[in-house]
Amino acid sequence: MRKTTIYIAERYHLANPSRFAVCSRLRLVTTIVTLFVYLLSRRTLLVYDVWATFSTTHEAELFLPAMAPATSRNPDSEKRNQSQIEILLDSSNLTVQEMSIDINANGKLIKFAPSSSKQFGVPPQDAFSACLLVMDENFRLSEWIAYHFFTLPLRTLVVLVDPRSRTSPKLILDQWREYMDIVEWTDGDILFNYNSSLLKGTTREKTKLHRTRQKLFYGSCTRYLKATNRSWTTYFDVDEYLAINEADTFDSSERIGQSGSIIRLLRETKAKPRERLYHGPCITLPRRYFSGSKESTVDMVFNRVPDFLNASRFETLRWRYRSDNTVTENGASKAIMDVSQIAWKELRRQRLEVHRPIKSCPPNHVRSGPFSIHHYLGTWEAYSHRNDARDGHHRNRTQWELRSDQTSGGSTDQIRPWIAGFVQQVGKQRAAYLLEDVGIYQDRVSDDGNVK
Ligand SMILES: *[C@@H]1O[C@H](CO)[C@@H](O)[C@H](O)[C@H]1NC(C)=O
Ligand SMILES: *[C@@H]1O[C@H](CO)[C@@H](O)[C@H](O)[C@H]1NC(C)=O
Ligand SMILES: *[C@@H]1O[C@H](CO)[C@@H](O)[C@H](O)[C@H]1NC(C)=O
Ligand SMILES: *[C@@H]1O[C@H](CO)[C@@H](O)[C@H](O)[C@H]1NC(C)=O
Ligand SMILES: *[C@@H]1O[C@H](CO)[C@@H](O)[C@H](O)[C@H]1NC(C)=O
Ligand SMILES: *[C@@H]1O[C@H](CO)[C@@H](O)[C@H](O)[C@H]1NC(C)=O
Repeated sequence: MRKTTIYIAERYHLANPSRFAVCSRLRLVTTIVTLFVYLLSRRTLLVYDVWATFSTTHEAELFLPAMAPATSRNPDSEKRNQSQIEILLDSSNLTVQEMSIDINANGKLIKFAPSSSKQFGVPPQDAFSACLLVMDENFRLSEWIAYHFFTLPLRTLVVLVDPRSRTSPKLILDQWREYMDIVEWTDGDILFNYNSSLLKGTTREKTKLHRTRQKLFYGSCTRYLKATNRSWTTYFDVDEYLAINEADTFDSSERIGQSGSIIRLLRETKAKPRERLYHGPCITLPRRYFSGSKESTVDMVFNRVPDFLNASRFETLRWRYRSDNTVTENGASKAIMDVSQIAWKELRRQRLEVHRPIKSCPPNHVRSGPFSIHHYLGTWEAYSHRNDARDGHHRNRTQWELRSDQTSGGSTDQIRPWIAGFVQQVGKQRAAYLLEDVGIYQDRVSDDGNVK
């Protein structure tokens, strides 16, 4: 067996900012030791550096350890048990090529089957991953996973559940574990400790909290996926769908009906010398709003949808009208990145920016190109379903109406063939099971009577 050493930098909570200096020195020593071990051993070495660094005292305030979960309070109990991890690896008969290793920021180690060995497996270089932050969005989650499972193809999903959620995505995620690697994190896993009284604070405080959580999550998630040898990764939300832009690709509808259409088109685009914005490991993609109020006829909504499904529950099938690609309402582009092609040093910053995660990403105001992210507003019920701290007063009826009224981009059915393709791929019975929660608002209750 090939021995693999996984080195994980230990993490220290900053009980007070004066400890910061001590931490910096320790960090330097750790780095030198790591380098030394690497040169000596010449073994595969994955450095998973999860240091909390703080640029300002103000930010440190957000991380007050007093409010952290009990296990996070004592730095000694937090130290990862390096020998334990090595024993786990040594006692396994698998080499690193044969297994995927899940190390989350708490140092928990879970052994996965390689994703290509799962049902509907794809070659590792084709498999997409996603960093997904969710909060009470179960009515959208099944559709989002199914669509991206089929089109990207999505095979690793890292989910962070916002602690203010009233519901849990667990039962839906359970349905998918046979087909993809699913990792669930909480705030502790991304080293996010804050004074919880901020949750009831002003809109500004809540927005700041949400943004900080999102950036820390994208940072931890990216390092985790890189350490576990993943490649293309998405960083958008559960109301956003990565689709093909028919203005740029004449056979977009045929393509979207075939599994793995996105990775295929991505490869084709990268091979074109002129498509310079697509050559690097980070790509920024434009977004467009889809109205949540302009309805279509039943015939249009159910067109090309297998008859055992209720198409009006699917965002991608019900909503056909969109904004013009030039309106500023659409917001900045969102990025996808091939984490395997990004140097560790680009990921040293604890947080990644949401729209342009690393400096080498192209500008984040692109308007055209072979891909387009469909941003579904959904009905007012859907839009207002979660108590969204990020938007605070933005998520009000006026705002929803304003955005939903923007339909000057006309209607599109380009995305529609995905559903028939998905049903064909997984079979009718399995599709019915995996999609049973699409568009259902009430929370499911598990066997123990808890709302999940
Ligand atoms: C680390 O793990 C090993 C093996 O499980 C155990 O014997 C040892 O006591 C642990 N050390 C600490 C400090 O927890
Ligand atoms: C490793 O392989 C040996 C013999 O091939 C087997 O007895 C043992 O149970 C295996 N260990 C694990 C952890 O799979
Ligand atoms: C990582 O993935 C690539 C394909 O994306 C593969 O060629 C390589 O062997 C993998 N490396 C390890 C250490 O698993
Ligand atoms: C959290 O913030 C509140 C209000 O700003 C403050 O009164 C309280 O002392 C803080 N808690 C801690 C543990 O610092
Ligand atoms: C389809 O779903 C919609 C929205 O939930 C519902 O109003 C309608 O009755 C359903 N149609 C059928 C045939 O179940
Ligand atoms: C709704 O949101 C918009 C945009 O943030 C804001 O300008 C407006 O004042 C809000 N309206 C209400 C009634 O809160």
